[in-house]
Amino acid sequence: MIGRRKKRAPEAVLTPAAERRPAGFESHRDDVPQREVARFGHGSRVPGWDDAVDLEKDPAAIPDPATTPVPAALRAEIEAHMAKYPDFRSAAIPALAAAQRVHGWCSPEAIWQAACVMRLTPGYLISVASFYDMLETRPVGRQAVYVCTNISCSLCGADELLDRFKRETADDPDFNVRGFECLGACDIAPMASVNGIYVGPIRTDEVPALVEQIREGLPPLPGKQLHLRKSTDPGAVRAPEEGR
Ligand code: FES
Repeated sequence: MIGRRKKRAPEAVLTPAAERRPAGFESHRDDVPQREVARFGHGSRVPGWDDAVDLEKDPAAIPDPATTPVPAALRAEIEAHMAKYPDFRSAAIPALAAAQRVHGWCSPEAIWQAACVMRLTPGYLISVASFYDMLETRPVGRQAVYVCTNISCSLCGADELLDRFKRETADDPDFNVRGFECLGACDIAPMASVNGIYVGPIRTDEVPALVEQIREGLPPLPGKQLHLRKSTDPGAVRAPEEGR
């Protein structure tokens, strides 16, 4: 876990406005009592980002490959991502996504395995995973349903749609239903991403059937999948598995 460093309370450093102003620039507001603004030692009202590291602490360890079993397919995928970038750390996000697909979330084990392959500290990858909200840092259901609730979808009933999804899946821990903004398919509002497949427009009364399709591993509302829609590009229509 990344803990927040406790900051010392800023000291109140007050310089009256009249004293800061150059001679000859008096103001009618100079008589108004000034409110003290608490400031940190460097003069800012917000804590600094550049506090020195605690050099007394033990350095973080990179997981030892000899004692960290990593599934062969996951290792191969992470290494393939690392090979794409001049700086291998740029592969942190796809590496974490790959580990999440294997473990269901960015669990300590998933982070440890990805860190082992990438030769990074787990803390480095945790800092990435905790920033991006599609990287899950808590256990979630494997069926990811993201209902867009941004403005276009919201105007078309997305809030009711999200409520209905939540009601239909309330007792099923296999579902990860959440609101999302904006999924970038406003022309099919209200829409949702169902395990990465964009579907819309979805009527509220279609939700029970859609949830059942997801449970059974069937294609979600095949007639409403964005990547199967007709396009001016004749090569754009792909088989469902290619569109994932
Ligand atoms: S507002 Fe929902 S996809 Fe853009």
